[in-house]
Amino acid sequence: MARVNHGNLLQHAIECAAATQLVGDGGDLRLVCTHAMAPFESARSTDVHEHNRVLRDLLGQVACMPPEGAAAAPHPLVRAYAAAGATVGHYPNTAELLAGLIGREHLDGVLCEIEPDAVAALRTAWQGSSVRVEARPWREALDTLLPPAPLTRPWLFSMDPYTFLHAGERKQDGMIPFLGPKDFELLRRCLAAHVKSESLGAFMAFVYGVDKSHAGGFRRGALALADRLGVARVIVGVEGPDGTRHLGAVLASDPDLPALAAESWHEMKSTLGLR
Ligand SMILES: C[S@@+](CC[C@H](N)C(=O)[O-])C[C@H]1O[C@@H](n2cnc3c(N)ncnc32)[C@H](O)[C@@H]1O
Repeated sequence: MARVNHGNLLQHAIECAAATQLVGDGGDLRLVCTHAMAPFESARSTDVHEHNRVLRDLLGQVACMPPEGAAAAPHPLVRAYAAAGATVGHYPNTAELLAGLIGREHLDGVLCEIEPDAVAALRTAWQGSSVRVEARPWREALDTLLPPAPLTRPWLFSMDPYTFLHAGERKQDGMIPFLGPKDFELLRRCLAAHVKSESLGAFMAFVYGVDKSHAGGFRRGALALADRLGVARVIVGVEGPDGTRHLGAVLASDPDLPALAAESWHEMKSTLGLR
């Protein structure tokens, strides 16, 4: 069951804005998602918490748009929602949104996922394409997420490991569920290989419902990683429940991308009345 919330809105708005900036008109994209999710998940409208009514209402409005109106919408997320047929009961993952936005045939890359039903659904959705499904925890699959050499198309490497905790590396049921401070260092080699390639691209990480005591650690870890990679960066966010924030870190070898993605998000946030 999907947890449709404003963190999803933040993540998908930034990813769609970044992909649009990276590919331009009709270009190809390498996509890596460390937490792919099934192509579509469902929630009942009544299950969407009141905190997240803005996303629920936006999805309702997009579903009622005539196709030509949706195709001309200024924000790429609205175009992607319309192309993917997104509703609360049929909520798309990043790969489906980008397939709707730039064309399935324009994507290659890797989708990492551990839940067996989600893996099976991803394999069906991407059968016959250049997108591979990796059925392993992302930390174990890092070598398979390295870019091909040469990497001849722009790239987007995205992760949304639920939340960030100082003790994110602590095991639960044999798995490490959340992002933790050590993960930024773990990701560095794979991201450095992308940054050193001849193509421009962006890394982004989204964490949800982060309280003040953990937000600083996420910011510090992401900004230190950007410094070590020598790339442009921005931290974006939106209000979550109970005084928390949903946060995203955008690091990019395209020097203009973080500011453009943040500007497009701020416009969307102010149009929708979010803080
Ligand atoms: C928040 S959802 C991802 C949402 C999705 N990325 C999207 O586009 O909205 C988290 C997904 O990550 C998967 N997951 C959790 N831990 C993982 C891990 N260590 N490695 C890979 N996938 C994981 C879960 O099974 C779940 O489908």
